[in-house]
Amino acid sequence: MTLTPQDVFNALPIVRDARLALSTAMPCSVVVPFATYSPWLGDAEFQATYEAIRPNSLVDQYRCYELWRLVEQTVRLGGDILEVGVWRGGTGCLMAARAKALRAPATVYLCDTFKGVVKAGDKDPGYKGGEHADTSADMVGALAARLMLPNVRILEGVFPDDTGDELAAHSFALCHIDVDVYKSARAVVEWVWPRLVVGGVVVYDDYGFAGCDGVTQLVNERAGQSGALTLHNLNGHAVVVKFA
Ligand SMILES: C[S@@+](CC[C@H](N)C(=O)[O-])C[C@H]1O[C@@H](n2cnc3c(N)ncnc32)[C@H](O)[C@@H]1O
Repeated sequence: MTLTPQDVFNALPIVRDARLALSTAMPCSVVVPFATYSPWLGDAEFQATYEAIRPNSLVDQYRCYELWRLVEQTVRLGGDILEVGVWRGGTGCLMAARAKALRAPATVYLCDTFKGVVKAGDKDPGYKGGEHADTSADMVGALAARLMLPNVRILEGVFPDDTGDELAAHSFALCHIDVDVYKSARAVVEWVWPRLVVGGVVVYDDYGFAGCDGVTQLVNERAGQSGALTLHNLNGHAVVVKFA
């Protein structure tokens, strides 16, 4: 049976807004927006890069496309790009590929323990610590080499505890925090916020994902901070713009 677009739309109300008992801390449901505009499908350069990084990423194309567009919009501010939570390098190399294509002078710093998630605690029901250890700095370096990205630098260790000092004098236009748990995400944002240029952006992955309740809590706690505008994207990103 071939479904028409109308058939698909007629079926959506069956799942849209269905409540899910996934978390005791936050309300959850099946989120199906009504909008249909999908610019990532019409962007050939994005699609080629996304296909190249896809085997090395846990992140879907909706979030990857947002990172892609945010690189374009933030590199003109000056400052480097920081990703903490790299795993096999997918999103980090996607951002670096965009920066390179734009001839931006930014270096893209990719920071990971390469030994898995750290600092999991009681705010993080989905994590014990050590998840996503199935990677290595070499694996990320190989992806960066395949994509010919001279603008990537890989830092191995807990961030900021082990490697923050190396970057202490830098300023950043964009920071992608993809560390899954509360304490790690908090340490990263507290480190980067004073180093973020005005107009710069922090993107949190894991915002609203089942099991990542700690990251959602952190973003919500910080949403009232002065000089910051916090946007909830239904794709699972929280996007925070520094305006002062
Ligand atoms: C979900 S994965 C990142 C996914 C990746 N962005 C992608 O494109 O698929 C989370 C990563 O965060 C790393 N991590 C968590 N806390 C960290 C910390 N404080 N410092 C460095 N790496 C950390 C883990 O080692 C793991 O590789």
